[in-house]
Amino acid sequence: MLNQSPSFKFLLLLWGTLLVLASLINHGLGAECGDKNKPTVKQTKVGFGNPPKFMVEVQNNCTICPAINVHVKCGSFTQDLVNPRLLKVLGKGDCVVNAGLPLGPLQKISFNYTHTKFNISTSTWYFQCE
Ligand SMILES: *[C@@H]1O[C@H](CO)[C@@H](O)[C@H](O)[C@H]1NC(C)=O
Ligand SMILES: *[C@@H]1O[C@H](CO)[C@@H](O)[C@H](O)[C@H]1NC(C)=O
Ligand SMILES: *[C@@H]1O[C@H](CO)[C@@H](O)[C@H](O)[C@H]1NC(C)=O
Repeated sequence: MLNQSPSFKFLLLLWGTLLVLASLINHGLGAECGDKNKPTVKQTKVGFGNPPKFMVEVQNNCTICPAINVHVKCGSFTQDLVNPRLLKVLGKGDCVVNAGLPLGPLQKISFNYTHTKFNISTSTWYFQCE
């Protein structure tokens, strides 16, 4: 017999409502981790010799989701300048940060290199909002 009690029906309804709400919230929050919160690259000159030294900070600027597989445009950066766990040179102009592993919300990783300045800017990344 499929004679469901009113309270069971109510529970089903409640569960359904919660699922809808949860997906709405998830979507809404996920939407906040967009281009405006993209991982950013900041370079500061910290050594004034010849060649100069630069401190690079890559930060996930999103407050709620980890960013994974963060690639940056890195010009002709060479691998000998940095530990590949921090920045791996994959090809001309393509480097991956933190071996592609997640940068937590607002997490920053930093490294220094001694060379004439390379232009480094965010190219691609994914937010992991689930
Ligand atoms: C990073 O986030 C902060 C705080 O939300 C914001 O003020 C800043 O403009 C963001 N930076 C970039 C480059 O989007
Ligand atoms: C980079 O250089 C700055 C200034 O010399 C120093 O404070 C910082 O600890 C260095 N960072 C790393 C990761 O070596
Ligand atoms: C780096 O960017 C600056 C400003 O956009 C540009 O003038 C310069 O030529 C670039 N350098 C390299 C090596 O691409």
